[in-house]
Amino acid sequence: MMIKSMSLSPGMPSSSSPLSSPPPLSTASPPATSLPLRTVPGSYGWPLLGPISDRLDYFWFQGPATFFKKRIEKHKSTVFRTNMPPTWPLFLGVNPNVIAVLDCKSFSHLFDMEIVEKKNILVGDFMPSVKFTGNLRTCAYLDTSEPQHAKIKNFVLDILKRSSTVWLTALKSNLDTLFDTIETNISEKGSAGFLFPLQKCLFNFLTTAIVGADPTTDPNIADSGYAMLDSWLALQILPTVKIGILQPLEEIFLHSFAYPFAPVSGGYNKLYNFVEKQGNEVAQRGVTEFGLTKEEATHNLLFTLGFNAFGGFSVFLPTLIGTIASDKTGIQKKLRKEVKEKIGSSSLNFESVKDLELVQSFVYETLRVNPPVPLQYGRARKDFQLSSHDSVYDIKKGELLCGYQSQIMKDSKVFEDPETFKAERFMGEKGRELLNYLYWSNGPQTGSPTGSNKQCAGKDVVTLTSFLIVAYIFQRYESISGSSSSITAVEKAK
Ligand code: HEM
Repeated sequence: MMIKSMSLSPGMPSSSSPLSSPPPLSTASPPATSLPLRTVPGSYGWPLLGPISDRLDYFWFQGPATFFKKRIEKHKSTVFRTNMPPTWPLFLGVNPNVIAVLDCKSFSHLFDMEIVEKKNILVGDFMPSVKFTGNLRTCAYLDTSEPQHAKIKNFVLDILKRSSTVWLTALKSNLDTLFDTIETNISEKGSAGFLFPLQKCLFNFLTTAIVGADPTTDPNIADSGYAMLDSWLALQILPTVKIGILQPLEEIFLHSFAYPFAPVSGGYNKLYNFVEKQGNEVAQRGVTEFGLTKEEATHNLLFTLGFNAFGGFSVFLPTLIGTIASDKTGIQKKLRKEVKEKIGSSSLNFESVKDLELVQSFVYETLRVNPPVPLQYGRARKDFQLSSHDSVYDIKKGELLCGYQSQIMKDSKVFEDPETFKAERFMGEKGRELLNYLYWSNGPQTGSPTGSNKQCAGKDVVTLTSFLIVAYIFQRYESISGSSSSITAVEKAK
């Protein structure tokens, strides 16, 4: 595999180093650069009209991918000014003006906590009401300069460290239930829609692994917990997400105002009471070992479970399973061969999947082509110079940077033939070097989440869990057929 020769460290001359070492991400004092200084192209348009026109392009006339692509072409730059929804008429307090950063190099400034602030910008300048989270700002909305951020982040990292044994057993038993259900449905109905069974499996698995609670102790939670989370999640993020239903209904009903917490308060309170009671031991550690109040620990536990973990996996796993099930290139045979040769019928665990080079590369490539959380934001903490591959731009303190990872992960200066899904892309030494530029978790795949950065706390368990799921599928089956929402046929492993 060819690797393009370039430097991705912000502010570094493009001739300085190939992709042979991780990019130094600190840009505290911008080094001298040979790149030309350019004014950030683009404008925000007329007040009200500019934002509404961009909003309609984004959600309706173009859709997110074309929205960004067209503007890169128009401005001949991967860095430009534009507006991001939500906006006019009922989001009066929300400033839609952003500077888009759409190549690996300019985007990586967002990982440098010395130059960007991440306060209340998880989904942009718009922030859902704190009523959704017990009148608290949960970890994902806190900036690293706020002392509570490190406390909560370290609490979450500690939960993950302690839960590794439970994580594995809970995952495997819930995968057994999921695929037994899929097989029964295929034999009864000829095909099995798996989205809700998958979400139920995810809810049970993650509640056991993260909250340390057994959902079956409360039949209502075991049956409907996932649906309670779905509606709670939806009301928070609807103003920022394209659903793809009939326009203009989507614009009028889903993107024009912020939904209140009231319709989902009943479900949230049930889940809170469940976590408070059944997850008491874990929450209590947040109090005694990390200095949180009981309410802070419990609401953050529920947010990590529901928004971060359940929300993230609910987007990624259908894509992962669908990419396998709909493949026509013969990758299933190769994945099956690797799993059969390296693991056989031995028990799956975190160690055994470390040898599965193709399985790992396949998961990474799926994350590259479909980053589950496409938009990332960062606000300039101070004036600084931002570098793209070919230019340098002056950024003023307070300006909001916005990256669309689905575009960034198609950066042709980093990824050869970027539009093509190549299952083997991340294999071998050069493939592993490319992991320095795989961004889906608010940081490079080679980075580590800590209390002083904003990288996804679950970054490593997400990939390990995904390796385990792919290995599980090919221990159980020769092949599966279907899409990202249903399985139509399975051939059992011989
Ligand atoms: C496929 C699943 C997942 C995806 C796609 C995902 C993605 C992300 C992304 C993109 C962010 C950064 C958001 C931003 O600041 O702009 C993030 C943050 C976070 N994620 Fe994940 N995540 C996943 C699973 C998990 C899991 C399993 C956990 C923990 C059990 C977790 C815990 C967190 C936490 C605590 C943060 C906030 C980090 C901070 O504020 O420093 N995530 N996640």
